[in-house]
Amino acid sequence: MKTMAMALLLVLQLCFISMEFVESSSHHYDHKIVRLPGQPSVDFQHFSGYISVSDHQKNHKALFYYFAEAEKNPASKPLVLWLNGGPGCSSVGVGAFSENGPFRPDGQVLVRNEYSWNIEANMLYLETPVGVGFSYSRHSSNDVAVDDEATARDNLVFLQRWFNKFPQYKHRDLFLTGESYAGHYIPQLAKLMVEANSKEKLFNLKGLALGNPVLEFATDLNSRAEYFWSHGLISDSTYRMFTSVCNYSRYVSEYYRDSVSPVCSRVMNQVSIETSKFVDKYDVTLDVCISSVLSQSKAISPNQMTQRIDVCVEDKIVSYLNRKDVQKALHAKLVGVRRWDVCSDDTSILDYQMLDLEIPTISLVGSIVKAGIPVLVYSGDQDSAIPLTGSRTLVDRLARELGLNTTVPYRVWFQGKQVGGWTQVYGNILSFATIRGASHEAPFSQPERSLMLFKSFLQGRALPLVF
Ligand SMILES: *[C@@H]1O[C@H](CO)[C@@H](O)[C@H](O)[C@H]1NC(C)=O
Ligand SMILES: *[C@@H]1O[C@H](CO)[C@@H](O)[C@H](O)[C@H]1NC(C)=O
Repeated sequence: MKTMAMALLLVLQLCFISMEFVESSSHHYDHKIVRLPGQPSVDFQHFSGYISVSDHQKNHKALFYYFAEAEKNPASKPLVLWLNGGPGCSSVGVGAFSENGPFRPDGQVLVRNEYSWNIEANMLYLETPVGVGFSYSRHSSNDVAVDDEATARDNLVFLQRWFNKFPQYKHRDLFLTGESYAGHYIPQLAKLMVEANSKEKLFNLKGLALGNPVLEFATDLNSRAEYFWSHGLISDSTYRMFTSVCNYSRYVSEYYRDSVSPVCSRVMNQVSIETSKFVDKYDVTLDVCISSVLSQSKAISPNQMTQRIDVCVEDKIVSYLNRKDVQKALHAKLVGVRRWDVCSDDTSILDYQMLDLEIPTISLVGSIVKAGIPVLVYSGDQDSAIPLTGSRTLVDRLARELGLNTTVPYRVWFQGKQVGGWTQVYGNILSFATIRGASHEAPFSQPERSLMLFKSFLQGRALPLVF
């Protein structure tokens, strides 16, 4: 899962060639998926396609979504939007097809995920911003910049227009969920929704859940040093350098300003040597997919299926979603790119303003809580990219600032007679939880515990103390 998450991507050029048009007709039947190639038969309906988010003709933009209705009684279940981060990673490829969606690709077929989140909710996966996955923009110039602000605006327009296509979901309880850089996307989208609602109630927003999110750049990134050190990934002397000579937030700041200092370069070099590329930074205990690490030499090492978790799922998603028959069944197409990718990077078209990484969103989380909307921040506890320690500190600090007292003291929670993780709740509205043994993509590596956490979150209940 090495490219899937906080992969810090380089700035690229956008380039569009074809100029055809996509218009979403008003009814949702044309987006209904008859059957995905290799798909087992299921009782729920699923849909996918494009929703235009253009504001004018010159700048034609469309976002691609995959929507899986709840397995049972969709009319009585909430609507949940899921966003992956990056920026640049696909919520369809990562979220739907490897984390919490109903299917996972395995060779030529799809297999059911028995812990799919559409057991509890109607799940909407959005590839955002334009330039990610099947989503695209056709611009008159090659130089289209995408940033946090544009992404939030497009996401809001997407939802408004998606509701025109699926009016039965318009007044449904709505939850926003996601992970990693979605720690920016979701609070920023929620803020726009709260503002829109103050004029006319458009969104029935009931809660936010953020998994291993970037909420405050320095705190989140600098918790990495201690995580590496305490898990034995770096030595005592390298830890000292990584905290005093050049810390990670300084390195990333310099990196995205194209001005890495010799001293930071030296420290990061030592950190990389010791941590090794054969350890997954998104889960320090999980094996890596050898074929992904050595992507130039896929043939030398077949998948190592020594554990229950398929660490090579990413490769399977790439082959599955690049099949022409799959794209046809999904009503998807490739615009301006040669192939679908898990994360847009320097071979593709995304030009994201990476300095937006430094915008703190924890204060937005505070204003959302103040507006009476519950927020859960959860952490897969094996992730070193956005470690639990930074998130826990940020949530605790926010609770103090908001004057929220602890309503559930820090304690374990249970799932299947085992400890699923730890949790703390403040003022019955702001929660923190860990998922024990989970990676950055928690529902991928701990599906059963993640589903329990999701269910409790939707019900507005504290995580179970008994089993
Ligand atoms: C990281 O480095 C920057 C720049 O040297 C410094 O301002 C900041 O306090 C450091 N943060 C931590 C947590 O050490
Ligand atoms: C929080 O706890 C403090 C100290 O026990 C108390 O004075 C205060 O009233 C509490 N605040 C709320 C909102 O319950």
